Amino acid sequence: MSFSERIDRLSREIQEAQPQNAAEAEGFRLSWLGRKGAFAEVFEQFKTVSPEEKRAFGQVINELKRAAEERIASFKITFTPESRTNAPRVDLTRPVALGFGGSRHPVSLTMERITGIFRSMGFGISEGPEIEDDWHNFSALNFPEEHPARDMQDTFFVATDPMLALRTHTSSVQVRAMESQTLPIRTISPGRVFRNEAISSRSHCIFHQVEGLYIDKDVSFADLKQTLLTFARELFGANTEIRLRPSYFPFTEPSAEMDVWWGLETEADHRITKGTGWLEILGCGMLDPQVLLNCGIDPEVYSGFAFGIGIERIAMNLFGVTDLRWFFESDVRFVGQFGV
Ligand code: PHE
Repeated sequence: MSFSERIDRLSREIQEAQPQNAAEAEGFRLSWLGRKGAFAEVFEQFKTVSPEEKRAFGQVINELKRAAEERIASFKITFTPESRTNAPRVDLTRPVALGFGGSRHPVSLTMERITGIFRSMGFGISEGPEIEDDWHNFSALNFPEEHPARDMQDTFFVATDPMLALRTHTSSVQVRAMESQTLPIRTISPGRVFRNEAISSRSHCIFHQVEGLYIDKDVSFADLKQTLLTFARELFGANTEIRLRPSYFPFTEPSAEMDVWWGLETEADHRITKGTGWLEILGCGMLDPQVLLNCGIDPEVYSGFAFGIGIERIAMNLFGVTDLRWFFESDVRFVGQFGV
């Protein structure tokens, strides 16, 4: 058989080989590329080719070898699936590892605890849009035109005419509740709020509130105080002490801020309470009669109170988180630490 006849036959054999399993594929590889394989012989014979023919035959042999290598590579993919990628092999027959189902965010856990306490006192839950109009976020709540809360510094505006903004508090939901619900009203509004504030370890431009509203005949400041005391004791423990400090909000009169006694034992207590031992957790007050009027409720017949709790501050202290920014980083190593 001449050298060229031989090469033609080998070429056909390479194309026609049909190994049925990995062992046969390996046999094919050895029979071609092995030390005693067909190519070893071909190269032996190549030595006898005349110098003039060497160049042309050299190319043909290289071509043949490439064809054999290509087929070997394709057999490998067919018979050894793990060679298809470099990814670790997945054993689909192994039992499923149960248990990693994600975990609740500490802000959600805190909101749930707070809403749970108010639900047990008979409050319902109201929700509203995060993009609000001027009326629900400001005007109905007695914010004068020139009030700094309306300023570009504080509010993220979405549109100007008519004004739309990201709500700066969930009091907007209380306006919606007063407009749409029948009296008496006892509701809380948990939700996300937005203020154009510098981001630091203690403040963020996004945070969460649970605001509450109670309107009925003869609702007094004593009702407000007792409701908040009950709440504080449910959340922080039965011996928790509170204090109310006079404050100002456009939509309540009188207004107050509530602190809980946190203690002054450790260095952290000093830092958290700014050296006072008291931790401020909410704003509150009796609804201004004008706000009731704005929402179609007769202030001669009805009175009510409102309060607004900042969630992140409480979550930081319940869970010992020292930097508020962690709540918004979505790092599962952080959020996975607080509960299921
Ligand atoms: N809306 C107020 C705030 O965001 C909180 C508040 C609510 C105060 C209800 C009094 C009554 O700061």
